[in-house]
Amino acid sequence: MVITPVRVVHHEDLDAVAAIVLPVARDDQGLLVAQGVPAEVGGVALPEEVDTPWAASQGFEGRAGQVLAIRSMGKPALLLAGIGEPAAADAEVWRRLGAAAARSTGKGGTLGLLLPLPSTISTAEAAKAMVEGALLASYRTGQSKSTPETPTIAEVVVAPFSRAGVSDDDMDRVSRGASAASITAGSVLWAREMINRPAAQLTPRRFAHEALRFLEEDPGVQVTIWRDTELEQERLGGLLGVARGSLEPPRLVWATYDPPSASGRHVVLVGKGITFDSGGLSLKTPEGMTTMKTDMTGAAVVLGALSAVARLNGRHKVTAIAPITENLPGQRAMKPGDVLVARNGTTIEVLNTDAEGRLVLADGLSLAAELHPDAIIDVATLTGAVRTALGTSVGAVMGSDDELVAELRASAARQGEPLWELPLVDDYDSHLDSDIADVKNIGKGQAGTIVAGLFLRKFTSGLPWAHLDIAAVGRAEGDDGYLTKGATAFSLRTLVDYLLTS
Ligand code: BES
Ligand code: MN
Ligand code: ZN
Repeated sequence: MVITPVRVVHHEDLDAVAAIVLPVARDDQGLLVAQGVPAEVGGVALPEEVDTPWAASQGFEGRAGQVLAIRSMGKPALLLAGIGEPAAADAEVWRRLGAAAARSTGKGGTLGLLLPLPSTISTAEAAKAMVEGALLASYRTGQSKSTPETPTIAEVVVAPFSRAGVSDDDMDRVSRGASAASITAGSVLWAREMINRPAAQLTPRRFAHEALRFLEEDPGVQVTIWRDTELEQERLGGLLGVARGSLEPPRLVWATYDPPSASGRHVVLVGKGITFDSGGLSLKTPEGMTTMKTDMTGAAVVLGALSAVARLNGRHKVTAIAPITENLPGQRAMKPGDVLVARNGTTIEVLNTDAEGRLVLADGLSLAAELHPDAIIDVATLTGAVRTALGTSVGAVMGSDDELVAELRASAARQGEPLWELPLVDDYDSHLDSDIADVKNIGKGQAGTIVAGLFLRKFTSGLPWAHLDIAAVGRAEGDDGYLTKGATAFSLRTLVDYLLTS
């Protein structure tokens, strides 16, 4: 995974770039004005006022996310990028500006980003958001083309500018923001690359190995992979039950990040790692199976988040647990009506083998609870029903701890990955009653997302816990802002934000 290099320079040194982006907003009179840009960069004069009627004739109104080339032939090209209402320019606006700018820069070019100071959010935050948007948008999904695709831009250069002058402290803040963006985007792009990879190439063994390679150099991080005998010895009955239908052996990745000073809390992340979900003997339709190589999104998200938090020197201890397997209908596959015994001893009657995510998470959550952490957060592409409930732009969050849910929702809002809370309706717990076992793995075909959440709650020992169902937001249907077609790695940046700010 190549990650585009980022540099921070004084605006006087912003030369030899393919495109320079001027943030633009409307003034009181409705005229488009470039927001605090220098008179020239790299020998190119920059306009302070924009020919507003002409820009309007080109469909450019200065709205957030809009981009208009005012001189595309020259070197460098000048791009106007809308920021909407300047006083309301939050991180998402800068992220979308970075993304739109990256999309308008020629392939292989260097993108020069001017950051006008002061901004409504902190300088570091604005720089981070803008760079993150550019890096995320420049990712290409064509990893299996005969010539594998690489990011569209070769380099990002950020230059803060202020009429009052840019101090060394300002430069430091921008550098900090830019390097945080590189680290977080590096994790997101690794996760997207894993999620987009075909299941034949990303078997459980390969995924565990890729995770080990990605994480092992990170400061304070230890990675262990549990294999056949360990999984048996540790009695991971849910994971082993799902894995029975496949010739590929399952794995469990256990990663810990121990901060240098043990002042923080301990948060355990659990991610669903189904590298392919055929449904098992409760087979999906051909159509329903086409995207099921992405059913390990939760695992990629939690492992990527742990790496970013370690590299950003987070103060909380973090453990990531990722049970990984295929769900296939092989000769030895678990059958509807079979009973599995989860790690915590709960017996589960499997009435639909396609409700497999909760089976592997039952073990993952049991292991998490044994660590008595301050919080448990699981991430999973768990139910098709969440798409009906919330659509493809908003993820679902449920949990046993209001403060944890509120903090996650605040992080999600800041990161442009909105989460909406669904209620864990106690009444529906009875939908999971089994005649022969402690619990069954499906409900009554109503409130599917909530019932799945209620199922997971049984494995959390009453500890503060939140569950993210990202089944409908995990994939983008096309390139859109800083999302690229295919995997989004939705909620990875939210977890990083939560772990660094809570
Ligand atoms: N991986 C699927 C959920 C899913 C569906 C993710 C569509 C992304 C897109 C999950 O394992 C599943 O099959 N869930 C079933 C549960 C049902 C059998 C209770 C579902 O939602 O249909
Ligand atoms: Mn399934
Ligand atoms: Zn699944």
